[in-house]
Amino acid sequence: MSEALLDLHPVAGRIGAEIREVRLSGDLGKETFSAIRQALLKYKVLFFRGQQHLDDAGQEAFAKLWGNPVAHPTVPVRDGTGYLLELDSAHGGRANSWHTDVTFDVAYPQSSILRAVEIPAYGGDTVWANTAQAYLDLPPALRQLADNLWALHTNDYDYASRFNTNEAGLKRYREVFTSTIYEAEHPVVRVHPETGERTLVLGHFVKKLLGYPTADSEHLLKLLDSYVTRLENTVRWRWSPGDVAIWDNRATQHYAINDYGDQRRVVRRVTIAGDVPVSVDGRRSVAREVPEKTRAADATGKDAATTTTAVAS
Ligand SMILES: [Fe+2]
Repeated sequence: MSEALLDLHPVAGRIGAEIREVRLSGDLGKETFSAIRQALLKYKVLFFRGQQHLDDAGQEAFAKLWGNPVAHPTVPVRDGTGYLLELDSAHGGRANSWHTDVTFDVAYPQSSILRAVEIPAYGGDTVWANTAQAYLDLPPALRQLADNLWALHTNDYDYASRFNTNEAGLKRYREVFTSTIYEAEHPVVRVHPETGERTLVLGHFVKKLLGYPTADSEHLLKLLDSYVTRLENTVRWRWSPGDVAIWDNRATQHYAINDYGDQRRVVRRVTIAGDVPVSVDGRRSVAREVPEKTRAADATGKDAATTTTAVAS
């Protein structure tokens, strides 16, 4: 199925394309959907403007075309939906840190479908980076090193150092987001199951590189991250209400820019189940058993779940 079926406009040089003249729904024609799927593998993130007809149910129906939708492992779904994660700035959450969604899960989502509901008059853009291109940009010797690195990813890390939010928001957020602790060991380079491309698996859920002292791990991660986030490797989207963005979560990282002050920003996301990453030498990611932790200092207020949305989803 070819791109020729689509009214497709690349947005940046190395990642991102806008597709026009398509009305997204669960009833999308097979040929069109197949062309969109191929386009996603090539461009890594696709944008569709003017999809105001989609409501929560419509977004979930469309998501089912892609595979099995999955709810966030710890954050409650939006009322009346099966899988939908709402990110509402009014509840304190802002994902202004580079990440790939849910990599603390051993089989993290293959893709995410994000719908803009309420968007600030200015600011609140999202930026995506191409992690396949980042791998290709590494000097050969660094590629070889990366091929053999593994990293520990977890949803239990130092949020305060990474997010700008107030104390109360941070506390509520931690209670919900880390209500269950997940840890997964992923190769730093995974082989994409559909394209065969090698992609870097990094982002803010990485706690450390395995087998390296913390200080060395930090240096190496910084070095590798710098290849992911250099501007040539990114695309930035100025949202309007009704826009839908879909990204290949196996080949991208993203960052929601927190530059809109007190304006409201509401977006809703459905993620599609992914498979367990495989390293270049054929080894699969591993979930670590995490003993039940007691977080006495945080163990207050059961209703936190209803008032909090994820910052770092
Ligand atoms: Fe995210």
